[in-house]
Amino acid sequence: MKSVKVPLGERSYQIVIGPSLLKAVGRKCKQLKLGQSCAVITDDRVEPLYAKPTIDSLKASGFNVTLITIPAGEKSKNLRLVQNCYDQLAQARLERNSFVLALGGGVVGDLAGFVAATYLRGVDFVQVPTTLLSQVDSSVGGKVGVNLKAGKNLVGAFYQPRLVLCDLDTLQTLPPREFKAGLAEVIKYGIIDDARLFKKLESEMERILKQDPKVLGSIIAKCCQIKAKVVGADEKESGLRATLNYGHTIGHAIEAITRYGTFLHGEAISIGQIAAGVLSHALCQFPEKDMERIRALFEKAKLPTSLRFTATQREKLMKAMQLDKKVSNGKVKFVLASRIGSVSPGHVVPNDMIHAVLEQIGLESSES
Ligand code: NAD
Ligand code: GLY
Repeated sequence: MKSVKVPLGERSYQIVIGPSLLKAVGRKCKQLKLGQSCAVITDDRVEPLYAKPTIDSLKASGFNVTLITIPAGEKSKNLRLVQNCYDQLAQARLERNSFVLALGGGVVGDLAGFVAATYLRGVDFVQVPTTLLSQVDSSVGGKVGVNLKAGKNLVGAFYQPRLVLCDLDTLQTLPPREFKAGLAEVIKYGIIDDARLFKKLESEMERILKQDPKVLGSIIAKCCQIKAKVVGADEKESGLRATLNYGHTIGHAIEAITRYGTFLHGEAISIGQIAAGVLSHALCQFPEKDMERIRALFEKAKLPTSLRFTATQREKLMKAMQLDKKVSNGKVKFVLASRIGSVSPGHVVPNDMIHAVLEQIGLESSES
């Protein structure tokens, strides 16, 4: 078992990573002296797999548990379901000292965290992430929220959990496509912060794809350490935290123009990270050999590295980038790399250069 601290003063918390942790949920919550009653929020794919052991563990430690199940998938991250959760919390008479526990992937974590942040002006919150993406990224750092028709994550809060519990065993039931999508965020940590992690991913990718628990546990812990360090230094994203968005400017735009139905987030940001690498080469002297290593690693992880769109779709992509919530004063900002392990945020890139890069990575019009 490994433990990583997110250093935020009085709001510091532990990320615990290891096998068989679901059965320890109750004991860990008890150690934190959380209130007597809680709501477990999960989705209808995770519920039949992991709700029972989680609830049994909580009950064995003396907690009263209400189970709330939402439909699986990104479409559930909306205000209507938030309202529905509030109603169920009120019906179960959850009080100010109760807590909400998110059991599932990033969709459940983001929605349940927003519910916890706002119900009765905030109740305690525990994250039990069950996807690779949520274990290395979304459960850590306190970004919670839901989508609007106008865009992703447009309503939300910074609201830190009291505990994050990553049970590695839960990853065994994850569909392989979801597992690989999580690897896109793992590779991102190597690119933005840690050349040694990147090298380890290059040499261990086959074992990682086979979910070798030893290598996977240490890699998840490393990613959590990087995220904890970044969040500890810049919780509200005034600078350093923006580096976590490497590859996300184009990635989010790809998700938006395909209406979140074609690519998983991790797949879209794989292509986004390739595009950011090409831009980095053009603008930040990012070495070509590093660019090739990045492409090769995404290919080894069986993630997409190129995409072909029509001219109309490419225009839509440029417009979608303008709608990204990280745009300031109408300018799209990119995180760019100077070498593997070192990136900087806030780069404004001319539109014609973005067009050129989209062409270079295979996004060129199939009409022209
Ligand atoms: P997800 O929550 O939709 O989970 C993916 C699928 O896997 C779902 O169908 C789910 O039911 C299923 N699933 C979950 N755990 C399982 C398991 N152990 N076994 C079998 N099936 C399982 O997707 P995700 O990739 O975990 O998260 C994506 C969401 O996270 C997006 O909404 C994104 O915006 C958000 N996100 C948030 C942050 C943040 O900092 N808050 C960071 C990155 C992403
Ligand atoms: N996933 C980006 C962040 O937490 O800031």
